[in-house]
Amino acid sequence: MEKMGLNQIREAYLKFFESKEHLRLNSFSLVPKNDKSLLLINAGMAPLKPYFTGLQTPPNKRIATCQKCIRTGDIENVGKTSRHATFFEMLGNFSFGDYFKNEVIPWAWEFVTEVLSIPKEKLYVTIYLDDDEAYELWTTKTDVNPKHIFRLGKEDNFWEHGVGPCGPCSEIHFYKDEGEIVSAEDFVEKSDADRAVEFWNLVFTQFDKDEEGNYNKLDFPNIDTGMGLERMATIMQGVETIFEVDTIKSILDKSGELVGIKYGEDQVKDVSLRIITDHTRSVAFMISDGILPSNEGRGYVLRRLLRRAARHGRLLGVEEAFLNKIVDTVIENSGEAYLELKDKQEYIKKVIAIEEERFGETIGSGMEILKGYIEKIQKENENVLSGDKVFKLYDTYGFPVELTQEILEEKEICVDLDGFNEEMRIQRERARAARGENTYMGTDVKVLDTIPVEIETTFDGYNNLELTSKVKVIIKNDEFVSSIEEGEKGIIVMEATPFYAEMGGQVGDKGIIYTDSFTAKVEDCKKNIGGKIVHFVEVEKGSISLEDDVTLKVDKIRREKVEKNHSATHMIHAALRQVIGDHVHQSGSYVDDERLRFDFTHFTAVTTEELIEIENLVNKKIMEVYEVDTKVMTLEEARESGAVALFDEKYGDRVRVVNIGGFSTELCGGTHVNNSGKIGLFKIISESGIAAGIRRIEAVTGENALRFIDKKNEVLRMVSETLKCSEKEIINKLEQQSNELKEKDKEISALKAKLASGSEDEILNNIKEINGVKYTATVLKDIDGEALRDLADKIKNKMSSGLVVLGSKSGEKVQFVAMATKDVVSKGVHCGKIIKEVAKIAGGGGGGRPDMAQAGGKNAEKLGEAIEQVQKIMEDLVK
Ligand code: ALA
Repeated sequence: MEKMGLNQIREAYLKFFESKEHLRLNSFSLVPKNDKSLLLINAGMAPLKPYFTGLQTPPNKRIATCQKCIRTGDIENVGKTSRHATFFEMLGNFSFGDYFKNEVIPWAWEFVTEVLSIPKEKLYVTIYLDDDEAYELWTTKTDVNPKHIFRLGKEDNFWEHGVGPCGPCSEIHFYKDEGEIVSAEDFVEKSDADRAVEFWNLVFTQFDKDEEGNYNKLDFPNIDTGMGLERMATIMQGVETIFEVDTIKSILDKSGELVGIKYGEDQVKDVSLRIITDHTRSVAFMISDGILPSNEGRGYVLRRLLRRAARHGRLLGVEEAFLNKIVDTVIENSGEAYLELKDKQEYIKKVIAIEEERFGETIGSGMEILKGYIEKIQKENENVLSGDKVFKLYDTYGFPVELTQEILEEKEICVDLDGFNEEMRIQRERARAARGENTYMGTDVKVLDTIPVEIETTFDGYNNLELTSKVKVIIKNDEFVSSIEEGEKGIIVMEATPFYAEMGGQVGDKGIIYTDSFTAKVEDCKKNIGGKIVHFVEVEKGSISLEDDVTLKVDKIRREKVEKNHSATHMIHAALRQVIGDHVHQSGSYVDDERLRFDFTHFTAVTTEELIEIENLVNKKIMEVYEVDTKVMTLEEARESGAVALFDEKYGDRVRVVNIGGFSTELCGGTHVNNSGKIGLFKIISESGIAAGIRRIEAVTGENALRFIDKKNEVLRMVSETLKCSEKEIINKLEQQSNELKEKDKEISALKAKLASGSEDEILNNIKEINGVKYTATVLKDIDGEALRDLADKIKNKMSSGLVVLGSKSGEKVQFVAMATKDVVSKGVHCGKIIKEVAKIAGGGGGGRPDMAQAGGKNAEKLGEAIEQVQKIMEDLVK
């Protein structure tokens, strides 16, 4: 048995199945497509579900892949044991209604014993209890020792994962120790002790489990197999754990080097190193598939993993962000097999660094707070942290609840999860806008997904906006019908169509469908889950039936507007990369006939200068009138031609590449202008941030850009009319006006000060005395806050002993201030109390210290009455 590297095993496997006429596909994205039942791809078969259930036709009946997978089910064990991991690669060979047990069993045996040369005496096979057919095949088509075959129950040998394709299975195991396993019981025991390792699962997929738990027999049986690549590598490399496998070991070593710790010397620190190693792998792969840290769904899984790893970095004494430094090693090891990692290397590192830094800002204070909570709980002999506190740690300090849970677990404290969930629910409720799910234009989306697979709907609308074709399906009121009539709304599916179905951010086409006696408006065009093109229509005249020939005509003017925006979206992408850097990746886009929206990764706002540069660059390229060239090629060829790969493209696919004069080369299935000059003009209308690390640019093109400029000109014209000057003079005029205003402000302040000092005498002349305490209470005009306070201060100093209360109108409101010298305070004067009562009369409130207080009020007409009250209050205070 030759020692093989992890990358070598992957290649050997895929090659072997290619030799058995399998189509090798590159891994699908970790982000499931059209599969709400799954957050992240967790098995090789997961992205292939529509092929198993027959919803889509596979590109080949035999496929082999090495699929990136993430499972977070037992994340808390990752690190603690050396067996668990959140990220792993699954090798798989699949048959969609083609070969079955008869072929897969001998092939599996051939691969394991001849290609990998694993000694036969080390191998054991398990089968489902009553699967005699499998037993028969194992014993006649392979030379496995029949005593090495054990029958196990549903728990072990029936594979299912939530809803979807499933069935009985047969597993191949490697026994690590010397000697023989003699019985099924013995086998289970050795398996539980991790001495017999399952490494390949052959699933005989015969059922499709539905949401109600029924096992529906599939029309044709399939094969789904899964071999954990890392696990296989432990066997081939003769090591005990996945952390000793060549590729993973180098990541572990790199992590150790960065934190200055050697693996294997301290068990507690080893846990942290394993967590950092595994989670950084997961995180790098997730980001390369377009996932970003957030508080929801996949983004939250990413955040949890990243923050858990970051915290373990802290436990090892690392103070600054360091996880991004491990990424290069991840990519050195996996970049050849997963080119998306290489493509986005700098970007992945940047996203990790930002998230880690952000968490770094709060982790310290969060840990302090948590320590406080823990001490309190322990002092009170309690053992639960309440939901609102867990929520506070989550919301304010960015502690994923699972992290809090894990830290508390070490202290034998649990969290009030229900309480936390309730807080989360309240927060979500606040944020959630009511939205209807699963219906679109009055149609239950589910019915769309049941359009028979054998119906072909061809899109023939890249160069063609009108064609005649046959009606294949009509849906009305969520039901399949045979005709549709005047005044009715419904859905029509045609054999061929020039209508572009909404995809890749480009809206669906509008237009008409007609015959001599029939016209229907097409209001939208989309694809169902199986990729069938459907037209949403409203019949204006006549009726049509299944199999009728009708003409479909796209609204040309609208389509052209959309195309201008779509091509401009590609150009803005290229310009952004050129101007602000190639960390820019598209994270979303929307293109209709009015405007375009382009979302992309970037970590600060795009400056005005940069925006101008980007806009100028795009306009320059428009004016250089480039031919827009579209070609279909393999993804590898596209990559060579320098095409920008999008996140959900799958390597191995044939792709359409849109090239705008070499300036922009992008994979895209959308429709475009045939020459950049047709875009005419490009204007950016806004730039904003929509999420952490994601910016959005909105822009317009062609006629819409002209209208945009017209509107701006109109505003300018109105401004110049209002200012009574020419457009050129507007700025001068405004500057002049603003200088004049400043002068006037100064004048007003000077006048007010004068007014105030004029008031000084008036106030000083108005001094009264109660029981030997001097006081003055005066109403003034138009002296506001600060001036009023200064004035009171001056008077107080001049009085040397006594109380001064001033009230003044200031705009619509009134203001009061009271100040007293120390000696009268000791005689019972209390400015706070006085002001409180006075302000109350004028409809306000306030208070303050015994020697100084301020307040406002609303009723200017009560000002006099309020100030008069001072005398009465003083009589009460100084007796
Ligand atoms: N789908 C099977 C598994 O994941 C092969 O084990």
